[in-house]
Amino acid sequence: MFFVFDGVDGSGKTTQLNRLADSLREQGHDVIVCKDPGTTELGERLRSILLSKSEIPIHMRSEMMMFTTARTQLVEQIIRPALASGKTVVLDRYVLSTVVYQGHAGNLDADAIRMVNDFATDGLWPDQTFILDLPTETAMQRLGDDLDRMESRGLAYFEKVRSGFLAEAEKQSDISVIDATQEIDTIADSIRKIAQAAITKGAN
Ligand code: TYD
Repeated sequence: MFFVFDGVDGSGKTTQLNRLADSLREQGHDVIVCKDPGTTELGERLRSILLSKSEIPIHMRSEMMMFTTARTQLVEQIIRPALASGKTVVLDRYVLSTVVYQGHAGNLDADAIRMVNDFATDGLWPDQTFILDLPTETAMQRLGDDLDRMESRGLAYFEKVRSGFLAEAEKQSDISVIDATQEIDTIADSIRKIAQAAITKGAN
């Protein structure tokens, strides 16, 4: 099983993906948690270029390709072997982030991004995606003042990110939008139920 957590920065997805991973482990699943971009050496290096505030100009298409390159390495080095050995993968962000941050908010063509990523991941798509949704102002307040390169893009960019996520969720039945303003336990409970349904469906 392959679960992805996504959403605006500051939505609490890291807390929630760890909660799901713990509850799946309690049920006896062998779970690995990874982060996109990251987890591999190549991914970590690209992540640091993408997130650090430096003077290097990065074109939006370069940015899209760098996130995607990190993802290819993560899929081939970690995720695909894990799935092949029967493990459950819980992943912090995936293709949907690129479609939304570089597509909807970054003005690149979303279908082109999907196509490039289908090639980059050799057609590996998640079984279930959770989007943690939060009003943009609340998310930005949670982030505070110490912002990375992506987080510094301002309110208008993040409004487009949020509406991009919601628009993509409308199109796909394997994406669930979760109201991230609810109590942590309430959120974890609804995610657990949806994950359970996906596991049952996958077993049939
Ligand atoms: P994240 O790992 O959630 O950041 P943090 O650990 O600081 O919470 O995400 C890194 C940033 O990169 C985040 O602002 C979203 C952005 N991003 C993209 O713009 N495109 C992508 O394809 C991905 C995966 C992330």
